[in-house]
Amino acid sequence: MTESPPHTPAAVTTTEPAIRVLFNREQIAARVRELGLQIARDLGDHAPVFVGVLKGACMFQCDLARATPLDVTLDFLAVSSYGAGTTSSGTVRMASDLRGDITGRQVVLCEGVVDSGLTLSFILEHLRSRGAAGVRVATLLDKVPCRKIQVPVDYAGWRIGAEFVVGYGMDAAERYRNLPYVGVLEES
Ligand code: PRP
Repeated sequence: MTESPPHTPAAVTTTEPAIRVLFNREQIAARVRELGLQIARDLGDHAPVFVGVLKGACMFQCDLARATPLDVTLDFLAVSSYGAGTTSSGTVRMASDLRGDITGRQVVLCEGVVDSGLTLSFILEHLRSRGAAGVRVATLLDKVPCRKIQVPVDYAGWRIGAEFVVGYGMDAAERYRNLPYVGVLEES
């Protein structure tokens, strides 16, 4: 199935790349609901903090939090990866840190996609240095074949290949984040 980005003026549509849908809105909602319940079972009586990695995790984090019947608080961080292209270069720096204190807290780190693992590795180190009692990693998508470094993933929506995905928070040059589905830009 392919779709055109919504809200695109008809006159521009012919120059827009088609998007092949990988996971539609219903599939995402069902899978996120499963993950939310699984996290609740695993964390029992804890009141976890869901830390979202901006910007790609924004939709997943919010939906996952709503699907988790625990006393959840939210926090956010942003990192910068240096180097052009569609994967991290290896140099990751904190661009925007947590607002709250996570000392002694159970953290669920929410990612849109884990690719090389370099971003996640850097963030896990950071969360541990901030005194988190435990960190579990939840990602909507896990690009297992792209790993450059071993990182733990506790909850994955789906494992996928090396395709460049957009939608549901994920972008191409900042576009497509608000698509309600996850798709792949088709070559024109
Ligand atoms: C994406 C994604 C992860 C990171 C994963 O973020 O959201 O944070 O890349 O890549 P890695 O495993 O190779 O390190 P991106 O840098 O595209 O920024 P964004 O979240 O603002 O879109």
